[in-house]
Amino acid sequence: MFMAKTWAISGVDLHLDLTGTRVRAELEAALRDAVRSGRLGPGTRLPASRGLALDLGIARNTVADAYAQLVAEGWLVARQGSGTRVADRPVAPDHPTPPAPAGPARPRYVLTAGLPDTSAFPRSMWLAAARRAVGAAASEAFGYADPRGRPELRHALAGYLARARGVRADPERIVVCSGFTQGLALLCQVLAARGVRGMAMEAYGHAAHRDLVVAHGLRPSMLPVDADGARVDRLADPAVLLTPAHQFPLGVALAPDRRAAVVAWAADHDGVLIEDDYDGEFRYDRQPVGAVQALAPDHVVYAGSVSKTLAPGLRLGWLVLPAALADEVAAAKSRHDGHTGVLDQLTLAELITSGGYDRHVRRMRLAYRRRRDHLVATLSRRAPKVGISGIAAGLHALVTLPSKESEQAVVARAADRGLAITGLGEFRRTPGRPRPALVIGYGSPPEHAFTTTIARLAAVLAEVSAGR
Ligand SMILES: Cc1ncc(COP(=O)(O)O)c(C=O)c1O
Repeated sequence: MFMAKTWAISGVDLHLDLTGTRVRAELEAALRDAVRSGRLGPGTRLPASRGLALDLGIARNTVADAYAQLVAEGWLVARQGSGTRVADRPVAPDHPTPPAPAGPARPRYVLTAGLPDTSAFPRSMWLAAARRAVGAAASEAFGYADPRGRPELRHALAGYLARARGVRADPERIVVCSGFTQGLALLCQVLAARGVRGMAMEAYGHAAHRDLVVAHGLRPSMLPVDADGARVDRLADPAVLLTPAHQFPLGVALAPDRRAAVVAWAADHDGVLIEDDYDGEFRYDRQPVGAVQALAPDHVVYAGSVSKTLAPGLRLGWLVLPAALADEVAAAKSRHDGHTGVLDQLTLAELITSGGYDRHVRRMRLAYRRRRDHLVATLSRRAPKVGISGIAAGLHALVTLPSKESEQAVVARAADRGLAITGLGEFRRTPGRPRPALVIGYGSPPEHAFTTTIARLAAVLAEVSAGR
């Protein structure tokens, strides 16, 4: 019997010649070939053996045996509960793939700041919520929407932010946007149109945020940051951007008297505080530090996003705005891109109202807390001369180096071992030579690679500690 079949896995068509008794060998060869050529990329999930057998009209055992053989050969990995996937680093190809275009080699171990563990994205939960939300949505939901976002999501967020972060959120004053990045851009636009010329920012932070402020015609001025957070006594501009719950990247919380001071300044000067609450859900040691916004909802813009809790790739964020700004920001959003995509908004709303979002955040909080504890324990054992701070919250820690070390030298030493880390200098926008430090993002490695990655870091820092 001869039968040619084509079937598809993850959108890749695989051709299979089923010739009588050689069915299993053909199946194995087709899969090997697809992995080797890269048509089935690392991590691609294969169909369940039962489903594929039904598709192909062959015995289930034939498929299961072929999968088992390829697992044994290292092409595939099988994990209880998560099915069979293409291995992360399949065995070396027979025909070497042509070299990638020139560029730096991708590090194997990544501890750069700002990323969550994307391998922990709750795929099944998200898909189930999407199925429910899209299935139940009225037809009008698929048309153009309110620039502020879907009412389902704005209501769900208002409840969630009040409960989890103490935010005084009215759904009418929420604008859903494409991450914090877009939210900041919209605010800069609106403030510039109102005649604001400058924005105060923390002297440590993302260069991208500063560049964005500059690109919108505002002049950034830098506030020093000390152990109590930003020096808000130095405020001179009518707008200020802060990370009060967990300063990025130094990791300190804005002290209560400074929270009160910034709120008093805003009220006295009709100022605007943009509160970037990028990792407020992940607090480990103390009672959560609530949002400053609750102290002055008419002067504080509360900004959040799913980039730490779910995935940066979603590009979903929100602004909770003072009444005086809400319409102007919504109009800017409308001019910018109409509104944020509806399907993801409906899915997130469903995830929040069903309790799945809280469950995921709780699970991740535990996981990140364990990671943090492991990082702290490992470094204090193996590299006692480095300091570690900023660890009460979030997904990153500040690791201070002995003062004679250069950040760049330590970063380069780590790179030689395939480990990507970032020096604090990347985030510094202030003159002077503070103690050298690293910003270690312990959120990003997938769970299975975490301890190896920390061991690499510890080895580098042990050398530094020993003065080698
Ligand atoms: C300080 C800070 N603010 C905000 C964000 C979130 O930005 P976005 O929502 O655009 O991904 C990040 C990164 O996750 C961050 O590190």
